Amino acid sequence: MIRTKILGLGSYVPERVVTNEELAYLDDQHVRQETVQTETTDEWIQKRTGIKERRYVPNDGQWATSDLALHAAKRALTDANIEPTEIDCIIFGTLSPDFHFPGTAVVLQKKLGIAEKTSCACFDIRQQCSGFVYGLQMADAFIRTGMYKRILLIGAELHSHSLDYTTRGRDVMVLFGDGAGAMILGPVESDDQRSGVMYTSAHADGNGAMDLYLKIFDISRRPYVDYNPKDRETNKDMYPQMDGKRVFLNAVRGMVMSTQSALAKTGLSWDDIQWFVPHQANLRINEKVVEVAKIPAEKVLNTIQFYGNTTAATVPLTIDHWRQQGKVKKGDRILASVFGSGFTWGAAIFTL
Ligand code: ACO
Repeated sequence: MIRTKILGLGSYVPERVVTNEELAYLDDQHVRQETVQTETTDEWIQKRTGIKERRYVPNDGQWATSDLALHAAKRALTDANIEPTEIDCIIFGTLSPDFHFPGTAVVLQKKLGIAEKTSCACFDIRQQCSGFVYGLQMADAFIRTGMYKRILLIGAELHSHSLDYTTRGRDVMVLFGDGAGAMILGPVESDDQRSGVMYTSAHADGNGAMDLYLKIFDISRRPYVDYNPKDRETNKDMYPQMDGKRVFLNAVRGMVMSTQSALAKTGLSWDDIQWFVPHQANLRINEKVVEVAKIPAEKVLNTIQFYGNTTAATVPLTIDHWRQQGKVKKGDRILASVFGSGFTWGAAIFTL
């Protein structure tokens, strides 16, 4: 039978490292100032989130989310040893698309030099931090049915341009970083139920939609975008808003539930799995998930310390980071569990 195999993996983060200490001095263009702009401390950020630093794109107006994606995609293509022209489907997960429309997948298709290949389908998906697992489920279904043969699955985010660099926005601003992760997926003939992408699940609860959101515009009104830099209440819509405690509780619950049901439905135990890769929202969330779901601590991979929360990119970025460190190896079986705005959540089990 046809099963989905991971043919390649790649990731990219910008070179600029922004430490917690520097964050307090950034202005709204994320340029370092002499005086403190946001009341926050390294101690507070590390204690509540585990984050030490994150990466930001250069502030030269030259970078879009699709550029981060392009770098990660090229690395995944090299890893898979395939040419961009072989890609017949792009699935792009992001909450920071280049534009309102068109979607970022078509922009990436052009940047990859395959826009003339009109038979390459381009999907943008909007499941925020759960985008990667949702996208993997789509890719798996497409490949198993024979619809597409070489899928580029991308999670990429450019957060640094849309954060509120003031004390008002500090609860959210300190969490996010820029980055991208990519996978190439294709079919393989195999009767081994455990090979390749073994399991995916995707869940949602729209009751949480306003617990973590970034509006920018409201299509029900005219004008549907308000922006007055001097009016703090109006320009609030330009920045992400979050009820941190509700997100925290629901994230722990969703990730524990999806992890436990992934094991129950596949009949696997932790002995069969080399690595647990949780979404990287907050180290405290992940520690709680590990404790409640009784996950062996030595199997847990985190990168939030170095990259912050890169939403749709966290899972492939974390796997690739630890692969580059020599920890994760080809053939390892991974259980990934994610939770994001929406609320959306899910889990996947796959072999690298
Ligand atoms: N620096 C210093 N102080 C801060 C900061 C900051 N960056 N942010 C908030 N505070 C202050 C608050 O103003 C508050 O001050 P007060 O007591 O004088 O009113 C105090 O710290 C405590 O604030 P709380 O919101 O109660 O702090 P909490 O312990 O809940 O931690 C946090 C906040 C870290 C955001 C937490 O709620 C959390 O981790 N929630 C999960 C959210 C998350 O991870 N989101 C990521 C995106 S969602 C996703 O990817 C799934």
